[in-house]
Amino acid sequence: MPVVYLVGFMGCGKTSVGEALAAILGVHFVDLDRLVSERLGAPVVEVFARLGEAVFRREETRALADLGRLAQGVVATGGGTFCFEENRRLILASGGIPVYLEATWPTLLARLPGKQAERPKFGDPEAARALLAAREPCYRLARVVVPVDGLPSPRAAAVAVAQALGRLTGWPG
Ligand code: S3P
Repeated sequence: MPVVYLVGFMGCGKTSVGEALAAILGVHFVDLDRLVSERLGAPVVEVFARLGEAVFRREETRALADLGRLAQGVVATGGGTFCFEENRRLILASGGIPVYLEATWPTLLARLPGKQAERPKFGDPEAARALLAAREPCYRLARVVVPVDGLPSPRAAAVAVAQALGRLTGWPG
């Protein structure tokens, strides 16, 4: 199984589903936000506040380029990652499979309160809704789209992703 990149809006479950999916596939899990934060030595929210979004985006792309060397794994990207053409190019050039965890606005809104402080791009709900509408077309460029609304747990969503990947790649053989 090539490296799987989970993409989608803040709150769609990229990290929790990614951890569950990595366990199902028996591969390593990498959280891109965490990696960028480690590389810059500060939490994402602090990087945005002190260094600015451009510094975060540059390091995000560099980290993604370095991940291109991975042979296997599941990578949870950040909510903006897949909306930059260079990042999409890096993922595809590495042979990775981008998977969009598609959640509707009501689901995302229900999941996000309480976590806004950690998410500099969330802002107020109306701005976030507009951002989702602007980003949806780029998420749809993923090779696989898995609707996650109504799935009861990250594990259930991970099973749905594994099944979709199985149809695409023939895994587990
Ligand atoms: C961002 C989403 C965040 C993180 C950063 C920017 C975005 O990731 O990369 O705050 O632009 O949507 P999550 O989707 O994991 O919250």
